[in-house]
Amino acid sequence: MDKISGFSDDELLVKILSFLPTKDAVSTSTLSKRWKFLWMRVPKLEYDENSIYPKEFYCQYMFIEGVDRRKRIIASGKSQRMRRFIDRNLPLHISPLIESFRLVLFTEVFQPQDIKLWVEIAISRCVEELSVTFTRFKGKPNALLPSSLYTCKSLVTLKLKKNILVDVPHVFCLPSLKTLHLELVTYADEESLQRLLTNCSVLEDLVVERHQGDNVRKFSVIIPTLLSLSFTVWSGCSSDGYMIDTPSLKYFKYKNLSKSTTSTSLIIVKNMPKLEEAQIFTAGHNIKKLLQSLTSVKLLSLLVAEDNTAEAVYGDDVDFNKLEHLNFGIRNTFWSKLLFWLLNASPKLRDFKFSDQYSRVTMDTLVWWNQLSSVPQCLLSSLQTFEWSGDFFLSVQGKDLAKYILRNSCFLKTATISLGSGLDPQKHLDLETEIRLSSPSSPTCNLVFNQHWDLGWEFWI
Ligand SMILES: *[C@@H]1O[C@H](CO)[C@@H](O)[C@H](O)[C@H]1NC(C)=O
Ligand SMILES: *[C@@H]1O[C@H](CO)[C@@H](O)[C@H](O)[C@H]1NC(C)=O
Repeated sequence: MDKISGFSDDELLVKILSFLPTKDAVSTSTLSKRWKFLWMRVPKLEYDENSIYPKEFYCQYMFIEGVDRRKRIIASGKSQRMRRFIDRNLPLHISPLIESFRLVLFTEVFQPQDIKLWVEIAISRCVEELSVTFTRFKGKPNALLPSSLYTCKSLVTLKLKKNILVDVPHVFCLPSLKTLHLELVTYADEESLQRLLTNCSVLEDLVVERHQGDNVRKFSVIIPTLLSLSFTVWSGCSSDGYMIDTPSLKYFKYKNLSKSTTSTSLIIVKNMPKLEEAQIFTAGHNIKKLLQSLTSVKLLSLLVAEDNTAEAVYGDDVDFNKLEHLNFGIRNTFWSKLLFWLLNASPKLRDFKFSDQYSRVTMDTLVWWNQLSSVPQCLLSSLQTFEWSGDFFLSVQGKDLAKYILRNSCFLKTATISLGSGLDPQKHLDLETEIRLSSPSSPTCNLVFNQHWDLGWEFWI
């Protein structure tokens, strides 16, 4: 209450207007003389083309080739009006400081020079958070942002997505930048990204998503202040290798979606002693090296895919002493040895989810769960919940693993077996009977069987 009485009436109204969509805030100018100029001081501006189209239209427009011509015309009519609106109103804005400026534009009505001009205006008003998503059809030029962006002292958050050309000057200065997201953008030269990363001295949150032809060769993240890093590499990206040295990191996500087995670019990850959560999506080779740097995590999500090399040698030289939650997913890969190694290395594991949907690899016989006599410590003392999420091709190995976990976990409270709804009801019943008869070692364990529709990869999205 006291905080509110400190504001003048106008300040309060501007504050309230800043919670409205920009279009509505501007429309209050017609209310009365007093309201006429208030919107010009609103510190949050958002122009999102999604807001002028229904969702299903957006999907059609973006993804179906040969878009209906009539729809295209309606689209450009609405988008034209939006463009005129921004052109007319943005230069009138007089707030000395813009807290956030957000553009999401995807029809051909908007041109790269529009983006450049509007971002320039935001920068001249000391923008703190700038977010631009610009989608173009293939072959059209990317948007180039004004060079004043790279000397913007007020900028705390910068999020750029899709058809934007990032051209980092040789000398630049972003002393306040804490959050930097660069998703599917293209860089003007091979050094642009690297230049940017080597001189952001207070950066805490970095997201980089690479795509084929983005013009990156070298990528090393050596940032002592960084707390959160998400790094995604799509298929076809060329590189001289990756180096990650971020000793303060708490959250790490790494997705390698490359299928090529010819590319041998390596990722070197230095030890992350403060890491709490990691999500790794990658082919199996070299995975042990990667995991060795992540041993301080409490939550690990690991999806191992498309790897038939069966990296078979795992020693007992690694400890995941704090690991409590493990999500382990597989797709067409040899995995049992890796999983057994992980279970053995995680003496405090409480919650274990195993997902083997879409796995069509030939029988993985590296570990025979139904004959295995040795039992990892976590099953004997800490594991409380287990979930097996499979699809409608019942995998023998998933079943054997589930029985192994039930047979050997002394303190299990809940075991959930969740299978694809396409599974034959008789098969489902047989499996249920077989598992119930396999006599869980924990007498109080609650066994839950259900069928699911979803694809089960929710922890990857
Ligand atoms: C690096 O950033 C600092 C401040 O953020 C700036 O003073 C310096 O000129 C920059 N160096 C280069 C090479 O851009
Ligand atoms: C990504 O995966 C591909 C395919 O398995 C592999 O060839 C490449 O070396 C991996 N890249 C990194 C950086 O791990």
